Amino acid sequence: MAVRQIRTAPDPVLKRKAKKVHTIDGSVKKLIRDMLETMYAEPGRAGLAAPQVGVSLRVIVIGIPEEEEIVLVNPEIVRRKGERIIDEGCLSVPGYFGQIGRSESVTVKGRDQTGKEVRIKAAGLLAQALEHEIDHLNGKLYIDHPEVRETLRKVQPEETGL
Ligand code: NI
Repeated sequence: MAVRQIRTAPDPVLKRKAKKVHTIDGSVKKLIRDMLETMYAEPGRAGLAAPQVGVSLRVIVIGIPEEEEIVLVNPEIVRRKGERIIDEGCLSVPGYFGQIGRSESVTVKGRDQTGKEVRIKAAGLLAQALEHEIDHLNGKLYIDHPEVRETLRKVQPEETGL
């Protein structure tokens, strides 16, 4: 396992649409282990997407304190419900927070690290983290949402990042 370097904007890998994983082979498993270690090494972390460690593949990990850790390969949002405005930050945009419109709840499907199909219904911070990390796979940062620009503010870099 190894902590990988977190890419920050404007690194072009963050703007690229990540590729689908066809086989969860040894290198993908190693990527997942490294992503988990990298996420846990960051204070205030709640999630990480593979492009944030420079790998343009559709893999995300989520580690919300007190909740079960989640690994998703090829995640897709199949349902969104409701809308809310919330604070958001990102490890790839250190030192900033902004307000963003996110869904109240989402349903996401994908595969876990063993290749098993999973479906997750989520609300609250988990729904936000899933939308945020899946945005990363589509080359989108939260600051690319037009409403965020006006509310962007500086915070301590160790505050929650997704
Ligand atoms: Ni992020």
